[in-house]
Amino acid sequence: MFTASVTGTGIYTPQRIMTNQELERVVETTADWIVSRTGIKERRIAAPEQATSDLCLEAARGALEDAGITAADLDCIIVGTITPDMVFPSTACIIQGKLGATRAAAFDISAACTGFIYGLQLAKQGIEAGSWEHVLVIGGETMSRILDWQDRNTCVLFGDGAGAAVISRSNGKGARILGVHLGADGSGGDCLILPAGGSRLPASAETVAERKHYIAMNGHEVYKFAVRIVEEAAGQVLSKLGLTFADVDYLVPHQANLRIIEGFAKRLKLPVDKIAINLDLYGNMSGASIPVALHQFKHKLNTGDKVLLVSFGGGLTWGSCLLEW
Ligand code: UT7
Repeated sequence: MFTASVTGTGIYTPQRIMTNQELERVVETTADWIVSRTGIKERRIAAPEQATSDLCLEAARGALEDAGITAADLDCIIVGTITPDMVFPSTACIIQGKLGATRAAAFDISAACTGFIYGLQLAKQGIEAGSWEHVLVIGGETMSRILDWQDRNTCVLFGDGAGAAVISRSNGKGARILGVHLGADGSGGDCLILPAGGSRLPASAETVAERKHYIAMNGHEVYKFAVRIVEEAAGQVLSKLGLTFADVDYLVPHQANLRIIEGFAKRLKLPVDKIAINLDLYGNMSGASIPVALHQFKHKLNTGDKVLLVSFGGGLTWGSCLLEW
């Protein structure tokens, strides 16, 4: 059997910074409220002409260069996103065309903030089975396009960005994917939802007037779910590998709320310098949060470190992954 490794990473974050102070002029909020409840100080907002595939493309090019391969080497492109350029063609197909990855299959995954980890699992399985040699997994979002800028419960939380990773058949290079655990609970889907624009509620003058093309969230319910599920998801992937929390050297968590991250880090007994935290500068980039954080903090990792990725989000979905650096 083959094994799969992360052999390259890349990111793109838009230039435009939106601070909490700026949001004070958009909705009834305060910069202090946002920082104290979430840890977020600012976020990036895509330029009007940029769509999700544009952000992903930049991240993808960086990851290919880092891995030392070309687009022609790719067997598959998987994009985790809830803000695709359009319903179809998939964002992954748009990227495949622009990269010139002529040998690659391409498709999107809709698993919200967990999309990147869902993608890692598929890449790992395809490589282990011998079907693929190089897979590009991307998490990319333009959350600013689906936020209700009149809803202070959600618009202060999210940001735009993209992160990509090349997953390759192991040849002694890169960080081995030791294991992945995925889960879902569709009965909680209403907690975090974009209600209209699909076959249930096609776009109409009414759906637009009722602001149903924007994210709606029961923040309190998602918070309770998140606190429980990060620990459960992490425990699941570790126990599959015969490991415990004590074996984790570094944590790359989903960047939804600093309080959730700090609570979990305490359970892991990890000091703050062993946790990738970028939500202060980028907010919650949904599926892009983990690959962007992994790229930004990988210089802190040492050979042999066991790196735990853990995420949760709309669906509801969750996932965890253990890498050996
Ligand atoms: O990626 C996965 C998706 N999302 C998440 O993981 C989010 C999970 N949830 C959270 O992070 C937190 O629940 C929030 C940050 C969304 C909210 O923090 P909280 O400490 O749970 O606040 P709360 O929901 O209990 O709301 C407290 C109050 C409410 O006012 P009342 O009803 O008590 O008068 C809200 O209306 O805070 C109010 N509030 C705000 N006030 C100022 C909500 N948003 C804001 C705001 N500025 N932006």
